[in-house]
Order: sequence, then structure tokens, then C-alpha cells
Amino acid sequence: MNNQQIIKNTEAFVKNALKNAEGGHDWFHILRVWNNAKLISKNENVDGFVVELGALLHDIADSKFHEGDETIGPKIAREFLENQQVDDSIIVHIENIISNISFKGGNFEQHFNSPELEVIQDADRLDAIGAVGIARTFNYGGFKNRPLYNPEISPDLNQTKEAYKNSEAPTINHFYEKLLLLKDRMNTVTGREIAADRHLYMEHFLTQFYDEWNGKL
Ligand code: ADP
Ligand code: NI
Repeated sequence: MNNQQIIKNTEAFVKNALKNAEGGHDWFHILRVWNNAKLISKNENVDGFVVELGALLHDIADSKFHEGDETIGPKIAREFLENQQVDDSIIVHIENIISNISFKGGNFEQHFNSPELEVIQDADRLDAIGAVGIARTFNYGGFKNRPLYNPEISPDLNQTKEAYKNSEAPTINHFYEKLLLLKDRMNTVTGREIAADRHLYMEHFLTQFYDEWNGKL
């Protein structure tokens, strides 16, 4: 099978697997990350096949939707890629990408890095900020039935991975605990440039949000 056919099969596989996914982690999130990753790759020296496979499979079984199980994503990806007769060295790389891409509160030690992971991580982070990032965040907050905002509950920037995952804090806190931190964590120049605009957009959103909350006319 040629690489183009494998990508096509992966697209179909992921689309089907995410049929009932939460709105912020559905096929369209994958499609945006895939497109972002291809765009960023143009300015990077990377293996395009690995970037595309990694982008397509990065949220195939997110642990937060699978009782915290962090092994299930890499496992499903491996099974699928073995069926596609992908080289084992590439499969190992994809497993490492899936296990290490996530933010998890930002206080988690990343055990693996590669130029391909850096590109996909930037692509995923771009989808967490800006207008789409805001929409996804409130969708996830709704999915978890969290309050929009509570001025009495402050953001917590030093959460462990566990606390971050189990947080019941208002959705606005997530901006301070993750979204506003991402622009300084971008790996690539292209990612950093796009992130700068999206960051400003979130700052405007927050200013407007507090003005409205406080009844400013
Ligand atoms: P990571 O594990 O890297 O934080 P996630 O898949 O958890 O990545 O996050 C993707 C997006 O899901 C976030 O950018 C945000 O929009 C939403 N999300 C995740 N956790 C929360 C949360 N605690 N509150 C609000 N939104 C969240
Ligand atoms: Ni993602």
C-alpha cells in the first residue's frame, strides 16, 4: 500500500472512531489539526507521512474520555497501523507522539521529542486558542457541567496532572491554567506567529466578558 492510500484509510478510520465524540474533540478538531500541521510543515524539515499520521491519530482515544487510561490511544493506533502494514519504526514514533503531545496542566515532564511531534503539538495547540479555542473550551465546560465563571474561585497554575484532569473549576479559569500559556510554548516559528494573533483575540474576549459580567454598559 502506498502512503497516500494509508493516509486515506486513516482518515476514514478516525472519522468513524470519533462519530460520537465531544464537540471539541471530534473529527473536525482532527481535520483542523491535520490542516494546521500540513501548513506548519511547509517551513520545517520533517517526515510528512509521520506528521499526517500523527495528526490524524493524536486523539484517537483521549484518556479523559477513557477513564484516565493513557495506554489505550497508542494501543489502538498500533493495531490500526499494523493492519496497514506500516513500518514498526514509524508505529513506535506515532505511539510516542500520541503519549507526549498533551498539555496535562503543563507540569508534566515530556519524555519524548521529535521535529514531527513539535509540528503536531503546535497544530493541536493552535486549535486550543483563538475563536475556535474559546468555543471548544466552553463546550468542554458544558460537557462537564462546569460554571462559566465564578470570581471567588481563582485559577490554579500549579496543579498536578491529576488535579488538572479532575478539576471542577469554572471554565474561565482554564484560560489562565492553559490557553493563555500556550503562545509562549510554541515549538515552531510559524506556530508562534499564528498563536500571537489568536492570543490577542482571547485577551479581547476576556476583557469584554468581564465588562459584561460587571454590568459595564
Ligand atoms: P490537553 O490534555 O493538552 O490539555 P485537552 O485535549 O485536554 O488537551 O484539551 C483540549 C481542549 O479541551 C482544551 O484546549 C479546552 O478547549 C478543552 N478542555 C480540556 N480541559 C478543559 C477544562 N478543564 N476546562 C475547559 N476546557 C477544557
Ligand atoms: Ni487534539
